[in-house]
Amino acid sequence: MSVPVEGVVKGDRADPSGRDRVRINDVAPRDGLQIEPVFVPTADKIALVDALSHAGYAKIEVTSFTSPKAIPALADAEAVMNGIERVAGVEYVVLVPNLRGMERAALCAPDEMNLVMSVSETHNRANLRMGREASFAQLADIVRALRGTAIRANVSLSTSFGCPMEGEVPEGEVFAWVSRFAGLGVAGISLCDTTGMASPAQVARMTARFLREHPGIMLTLHFHNTRGMGLANIVAAVQAGARRFDASLGGLGGCPYAPGATGNVCSEEVVHMLELMDFDTGVDLDLALAASARLPGLLGHDVPSQLLKAGPVTRLHPVPEGVVNVG
Ligand code: COA
Ligand code: ZN
Repeated sequence: MSVPVEGVVKGDRADPSGRDRVRINDVAPRDGLQIEPVFVPTADKIALVDALSHAGYAKIEVTSFTSPKAIPALADAEAVMNGIERVAGVEYVVLVPNLRGMERAALCAPDEMNLVMSVSETHNRANLRMGREASFAQLADIVRALRGTAIRANVSLSTSFGCPMEGEVPEGEVFAWVSRFAGLGVAGISLCDTTGMASPAQVARMTARFLREHPGIMLTLHFHNTRGMGLANIVAAVQAGARRFDASLGGLGGCPYAPGATGNVCSEEVVHMLELMDFDTGVDLDLALAASARLPGLLGHDVPSQLLKAGPVTRLHPVPEGVVNVG
């Protein structure tokens, strides 16, 4: 079966072996740290972003320019952006919820602003304290302001696969918001599963529809592993043609304004799985695991990553004493 594939359309086969490139945006410094009760010192945040850069992630969501009252954990956004190393080939993204956030972020010259709103009215009001139309009007102003600058606009549509308060979000409504942002000329759109409500068949259907209806817009999928479906949803999306994913080192993450939110799909597990499926992520798994191993010390608790505990499939164990190899 032939499916439209994001990325390949742009002649995007970086790997000489011909493997398809999948771009992973590590959102641990933003989606991961925003929900942590401890304030991670600025120098440690910078070290985390630098480690992700050197591990080979295509993109890193470094921080958010939100109200420090709403997200105190990321109140040092400027200092982090100004302190990180800009590694060639890596794109540095920041989350922006409103015009004030755009003005602050623009001074730090990110490669991309990730503009956020929810497709569910209730979650938008809980998260951003305004209705969807008010959010859209602000984000539209930002998109227009970024035209002709070096900064790309991406829009993240939260609760695209379900809302923790309203329940099912009609697919037609999600695509109506996609069309409105497409009409503004945004470079990319992320469909976000804010609280792990997405399931594989739904993901395959929505991915295929997006690629069919909006082939010129970069599609990113953003899954949380709240109900254990994160990697299954990645498989469904990649098989339907998606080539860009958000994921979070260690499996950190969660929206403080979404009841029951837990971690993003774990980025080292996504890398490990996609490489076994013969995709090229560009990520050095050993470096990613080394960075993930430093997270518990930084946060004071264990992280969800199963790969960190088990190691990659290539990590073998010694044969127990007394076992005779008859093979
Ligand atoms: N950066 C810094 N400060 C900001 C800001 C921004 N982007 N936006 C608003 N503020 C400040 C205002 O200056 C004001 O400060 P003051 O109380 O000292 O006068 C205060 O925040 C309230 O401003 P207001 O416009 O009334 O905002 P609000 O209280 O309605 O909050 C948001 C709206 C969007 C700024 C806030 O809800 C927010 O930052 N949410 C982020 C949610 C988020 O990141 N969720 C997780 C990711 S999906
Ligand atoms: Zn998220």
